[in-house]
Amino acid sequence: MTAMPAHTHDEVDWAARLPAMLRGDALDAETFAGVASRLTSELPDTATVVDVGCGTGGMSAALAAELGRRGGGTLILVDATEVLLEQALESATKAAAGAPVRVSTVVADIAGGLPSDVVPPADLIWASAVVHHLPDQQAGVAALAATLGDGGVLALAEGPRQSQCLPWELGIGEPGLERRLLAARDEWFCELRAGMAGVVAMPYGWNVALRRAGLVDVTSFSYLFDHPAPASAAVLAAALDQLAWISRAGAERVGEADQETVHRLTDPADPAFLGNREDVFLFATGTVYWGRSR
Ligand SMILES: C[S@@+](CC[C@H](N)C(=O)[O-])C[C@H]1O[C@@H](n2cnc3c(N)ncnc32)[C@H](O)[C@@H]1O
Repeated sequence: MTAMPAHTHDEVDWAARLPAMLRGDALDAETFAGVASRLTSELPDTATVVDVGCGTGGMSAALAAELGRRGGGTLILVDATEVLLEQALESATKAAAGAPVRVSTVVADIAGGLPSDVVPPADLIWASAVVHHLPDQQAGVAALAATLGDGGVLALAEGPRQSQCLPWELGIGEPGLERRLLAARDEWFCELRAGMAGVVAMPYGWNVALRRAGLVDVTSFSYLFDHPAPASAAVLAAALDQLAWISRAGAERVGEADQETVHRLTDPADPAFLGNREDVFLFATGTVYWGRSR
């Protein structure tokens, strides 16, 4: 593991999120496999792929498996949170299943770009849900684009991930709880960004950010995470993770009645516990914006 001094620019304790992120990786492996297959289909042989802000490595594993299927390559995992990176390394190495895929890790704060001494020009850079955690998102995109080799592809999974797990009416509290929690979470995120040192506004979409970074053939595609009701134990656990995450982020911004409803839904001893319901589901969408260097 190559380690640079690294920290994130948000207030999130990413290490504490490891168990929930890992549960999400397991649940969404099939979706990740589809996205990885699409992203890698036109890569050259023995490609160099970088997973930036890899977290616990759900996509790192899918990318490693694709490189393995294609006969091998190099996969570099980058994150500011060392414990997540260790997990991602384990997942990616396992997914490569003995194929000639070299997997390495770099602990780094990507706000300053990728360290060029350890990250070579890449054929594909995948950065999911990390650039929006940087104070200057456009500078972050430009720095990633600068690390591409000729014809290399930068793929950003960004934009609001639409995510739902609860019915509109729950039988306790006021209908529409989840929408209010998500709105409160968004408010928290806006305040977090506004308070970041050195924050720079990016008043346009991710396709424009890629184009301004000098990339061509910029386009996007979207995909689904679709786990219908009735939920399996794994989906219920992920729904509880999601509810805990969005309610923690927005807790001070919703009323006491909604806080009480969340408390009851997440208390295994309460008859209203979410884990006892047969109408819980998980549905989310993601969008990849991608472009190519000349
Ligand atoms: C929302 S998670 C996304 C994880 C994974 N890419 C995914 O889509 O599931 C954000 C990740 O970015 C990392 N991160 C946040 N700020 C970072 C920074 N400035 N430099 C490098 N990594 C950062 C966090 O440690 C965390 O693993």
